[in-house]
Amino acid sequence: MSNETWTQVDEYIAERFAPEDPALTAALADSEAAGLPPISVSAAQGSLLNLLAQATGARTILEIGTLGGYSTIWLARALSADGKVVTLEASPKHAAVAQRNLERAGVADKVEIQVGPAQETLPRLIAEQAGPFDFIFIDADKESYPAYLAWTLELARPGTLIVADNVIRNGRILNETSDDVNVQGARRFNDLLAAEPRVTATLLQIVGSKGYDGLALALVK
Ligand code: SAH
Ligand code: DHB
Ligand code: MG
Repeated sequence: MSNETWTQVDEYIAERFAPEDPALTAALADSEAAGLPPISVSAAQGSLLNLLAQATGARTILEIGTLGGYSTIWLARALSADGKVVTLEASPKHAAVAQRNLERAGVADKVEIQVGPAQETLPRLIAEQAGPFDFIFIDADKESYPAYLAWTLELARPGTLIVADNVIRNGRILNETSDDVNVQGARRFNDLLAAEPRVTATLLQIVGSKGYDGLALALVK
């Protein structure tokens, strides 16, 4: 099976289950025009995040890594009427692009972007007792995933679903001696998750328009 087949099947899935709408299309276009890297989740992955967030009945969602707000729009659309997304972004430039994209999508009133390194905003959220969040999506710097796991567990409750992107990295997570800090971070995260008594967890391999990668799924006990 070729990479091209994955991409075509991803398009087949997206056409049916994640049809592009003007707000999502514009969010990607404006992100690209502003020079943001093309690393948003795919449309099919966005639809999966939306479904999973709905499955938890999420009223409060925490996202780490906003970029241009593409995944944030998918998540905000899963919320019940009075729901809220808190999304953490280190780059003021990315946050500004995301804010415009969220406004255009009509979800800005449900989303709070907190600008700054998540290493600072997460401990602040814990200190402020901002949790518990019903659904948590980890998608920022992979090097810090192990730390993000520890913090997000403090912001969770039994039944919270924690999802983390990019935990397979084209299979590079098999490489014990990788000198890539992103791979090392994802490897350490996966091992911590596997050993974590507070969650029921697994990894989901995904192929598609973004290549070969995967999501970690962890349900807090
Ligand atoms: N979730 C987005 C993609 C996020 S890309 C989507 O699918 O649409 C990763 C983002 O994490 C980038 O915008 C990057 O600036 C941000 N980031 C990197 N390191 C960070 C940190 N330490 N704290 C918060 N955000 C960070
Ligand atoms: C890449 C992809 C991602 O989904 C991400 O969050 C960060 C980086 C990448 O392909 O480099
Ligand atoms: Mg990602």
